[in-house]
Amino acid sequence: LQIPELPPNTVDAGSENILLSLVIPTYKERDNIKNVVSILSRLLDESILGDYELIVVDDDSPDRTWEVAESLTQEYRQLRVMRRQNERGLSSAVIRGWQGARGRVLGVIDGDLQHPPEVLSQLLGAIQKGADMAVASRHVDGGGVSKWSFFRRFLSRGAQLLGLIILPDVLGRVSDPMSGYFMVRRNSIAGVTLNPVGYKILLEVIGRGKVREIAEVGYVFCERVKGESKVTSKQYIDYIHHLVRLRLTTGRLGKISQRINFPVARFLRFGLVGLSGVVVDMTMLYLLSDPSTLALPLTRSKIIAGEIAIVNNFLWNDAWTFADVSSGQHEWGQWMKRFLKFNFICLVGLVLNVLVLNIVFNLIIQNRYIANLIAIAVATVWNFSVNLKLSWRV
Ligand code: GDD
Ligand code: MN
Repeated sequence: LQIPELPPNTVDAGSENILLSLVIPTYKERDNIKNVVSILSRLLDESILGDYELIVVDDDSPDRTWEVAESLTQEYRQLRVMRRQNERGLSSAVIRGWQGARGRVLGVIDGDLQHPPEVLSQLLGAIQKGADMAVASRHVDGGGVSKWSFFRRFLSRGAQLLGLIILPDVLGRVSDPMSGYFMVRRNSIAGVTLNPVGYKILLEVIGRGKVREIAEVGYVFCERVKGESKVTSKQYIDYIHHLVRLRLTTGRLGKISQRINFPVARFLRFGLVGLSGVVVDMTMLYLLSDPSTLALPLTRSKIIAGEIAIVNNFLWNDAWTFADVSSGQHEWGQWMKRFLKFNFICLVGLVLNVLVLNIVFNLIIQNRYIANLIAIAVATVWNFSVNLKLSWRV
C-alpha cells in the first residue's frame, strides 16, 4: 500500500490546500466517536493555522460506529468517514485513511480518548519547526501512563526491549516506539510501500519511510472510559512477526537483497521451512523403520518419510513463505497445481542433491559431511528459485 504524492500545483489550481489530515481508526467505538470528533474539531479550529480534515476509518464495526460517525458529517464539515467492509486491522486502516487524505502532514490518533488531544498542536508545531515526524511519547518529560500495574508496565517495556534487540535501527530512534499517536510529513512517506502488518504502524513508517528528524512530545496515556481495548495475544505475535519482517527487508539486509535482486527474507523463510522438513523426515524415518516401531524396510520408509516431509514443507511454504502470493488463491484446483509442481521440483532437487554429493565428494573434498552440506545448499537454492518462478510465480 502506498501513499500518493500530492499534485505539485494544488495551491495554484485553487483547490484545497490542507495542512493536516488526521486519521482516527475505530473499531467498536460507538460511545466515544461523537466526543472525539467534537473535541478534536474544537481544538483544531482554535489552534491550527490552516485547514485540516478528520478521517474516521471504521472497519464495519458491529456496533455501527460508522453510522454514528456519518451522522456527524453534517455538523462537522471537516469530517470524512471511510467504512471498510473488506479489510480489517489497525495498521491497514491508518494507511488506507492516509491514502485518501489530502493534507501535507498526515497524523493518527486513537478514537477512544486515551490520547489527550491537547498534544496535537505541539506535534504539529514540531513539524512546522522542521521535524519530519513528531511522536507523542509516554517516556519523555511530561509523559507517562495513568494507572498501570507493575505487570503491565513490565510487559510494555519487555516488548520494547525485544524490539530494540531485533530492530535497533528503528526502535532506537524514539523513546516510545509503541505509540499510535504521531504525525509525519507526507513527503517522508509518499511513494514508499507500507505493509499493513500488526498494530504498530509507527514502526513501519520509521522503518520504511524517509524520516530524518524526529521530535517527541510527552503525553499521559489516559485510561479508557467507554468501550474496551481490542488488544489480544494475537497482537503480540503480530508484533514479533512485524519486527522480524522489518529486520529482514529494511536497512542493510534490505539493501543487499535489492542490490543482488534476490529475496533474502523469503529465502530465509524457505530455509527454515526446509529445516522443519528435516525434523519431520527424521521423525518419520524413525517411526517407520526402527526395529522397535514399525520396522519397515529402509528404502520404503525413506520414500514415505521424504514424501511426508515434502507435504509438510509445501503446507508451510504456501501458508507462510509465499503467503502474499497464495492468499486469495485457495481454490482447490490452484492449490493442487502448486502442490504438484512443488512436489515434482523437490524430487528433481533430491536427484540433484545426490548428484552434487557424489561429484563434490569424489572430485573436490573427501569429507562426506562437508560434501553433503554443499549438496544440500545447492539443492535448496534450486528448490527455492524454481519454486519461486514456477509454483508461486513471484
Ligand atoms: N479501523 C480499525 N480496525 N480500528 C481499530 C482496530 C481495527 O482492527 N483495532 C483497533 N482499532 C482502533 C480502536 O478503536 C482505537 O481507536 C485504536 O484503534 C486503538 O485501539 P485500542 O484497542 O484502544 O488500543 P490500546 O489502547 O490498547 O493500544 C494502544 O497502545 C498504544 C500505547 O501502547 C495503541 O494502539 C496506540 O495507539 C497507543 O498509543
Ligand atoms: Mn485504547
